[in-house]
Amino acid sequence: MSNSAYNPVTRDVIKALRKIVGQGNVLTDEEKLETYSHDETEAAVYGHAPEAAITPLTTEQVAAVVKLANKERIPITPRGAGSGLSGGAIPEYGGIVLSLEKMNKFLELDKANMVAVVEAGLVTNDLASAVRAEGLFFAGYPMSLQTCMIGGNIAENAGGGKAVKYGVTGRYVLGIELVTPLGDVVQLGGKLSKDVSGYDLKSLVIGSEGTLGIVTRAIVKLIGNPTARSDILALFKTPKDAIDMVPAILSNGIAPASIEFMDQISIITSCGYLNESLPYENCGAMLLIELDGTDASQVETDLVATGKLCEANGAMEVYVAEDKNNIERIWNVRRNIAEAFKVYSPIQSIEDIVVPISRIPEIIPELERMGKKYSLRIPCYGHAGDGNLHATLVKDPEMSMETWKENERLCLKELYKVTGGMGGKISGEHGIGIKRREYLKDVIDPVELSLMRAIKKAWDPNNIMNPGKIFA
Ligand code: LAC
Ligand code: ZN
Repeated sequence: MSNSAYNPVTRDVIKALRKIVGQGNVLTDEEKLETYSHDETEAAVYGHAPEAAITPLTTEQVAAVVKLANKERIPITPRGAGSGLSGGAIPEYGGIVLSLEKMNKFLELDKANMVAVVEAGLVTNDLASAVRAEGLFFAGYPMSLQTCMIGGNIAENAGGGKAVKYGVTGRYVLGIELVTPLGDVVQLGGKLSKDVSGYDLKSLVIGSEGTLGIVTRAIVKLIGNPTARSDILALFKTPKDAIDMVPAILSNGIAPASIEFMDQISIITSCGYLNESLPYENCGAMLLIELDGTDASQVETDLVATGKLCEANGAMEVYVAEDKNNIERIWNVRRNIAEAFKVYSPIQSIEDIVVPISRIPEIIPELERMGKKYSLRIPCYGHAGDGNLHATLVKDPEMSMETWKENERLCLKELYKVTGGMGGKISGEHGIGIKRREYLKDVIDPVELSLMRAIKKAWDPNNIMNPGKIFA
């Protein structure tokens, strides 16, 4: 998409960029730019190449580039690992992609304050492993944790597989260093457990999808490593039987780290993709429930109680996985579902709806109804314990592209409306990005939307910071 509000990245601009970040950190050849043209959304639909990609090494360099972009009216798209699912890192208007990949240092482990200070480009798994080696735990756990970066997790306020007990990324971010859309550097928050000194700007930035600046550093909170762990695999006849368990478990006062749901197609597709064979392929759906803690006897008590609840609620089988290898095998199947579906059918739409937990049993029948109405397959998996499900609209190979596009749009509209009617929202963890922006206005209070737009305008008067995201 071209936009006359912006100027092209000229030779002079490239020269200026090289001066700021160094020759080797400015990429302009087509092949390299292709890498920065998409995230995990469908590249053919959402992809767009930048005119230049840069890999700065310091906050000062980031700030200087943002100042230049304002002066020249060139859009900037910040980027972490590109594992996003809403197009947040796609440079829709060309311009500059600013990748944080080289700002990946673990700067400080401050045990006395139970925090780590890290650069935004650190891979989340590297952060988690480094602190685990010290007996500590970073509770952020996106499903793509092996590749995603902490800066991207902060930009999207990523959720993932341990949010039932531990909450989402934002809960563990005590401070950030931000390069504002005007190129100023500001420290928000700090090594603090409490802070009500004026507006909570740090929390406003977390989850703002890179539209309010570029996070360059973070102070993240650590907790004690939960050394005891058991995982339950409970098999159910139908998806509804499995989902009905969620309120049953949570209202019983048990606090699992996660309650993950997978329907039959999700299990079979991921097992096929991984060439993995697990005994539960033939059930209608399953729950993967992780129980953890620092007290092994408490974990055992919760395990027995959860197992009994599953059986009382019609589980066909309840397996317990306690050794590391088995746990890893099962989670590998769960973590790879999205990837497996993409291989199976590249034309699809991974959804991310979230509803109050008590309403989650109503979702599956609605998906079945809409699937029939729009002739779409809608397999479903996700973070049932958070009320957050990845219903995935999949194009049937027989369906024409035209029909798919129309049915997908109508089905999404209806899905979002139904979700809103249950008190839910259209994205629990992947964000609005490009993918959902045309629908946001239908499901959000217009006053809320205009407050959001006013914030964007106040922070980014030239609209150069990740333009086109969130707002249609
Ligand atoms: C997951 C991604 C799609 O939960 O959020 O697997
Ligand atoms: Zn997810």
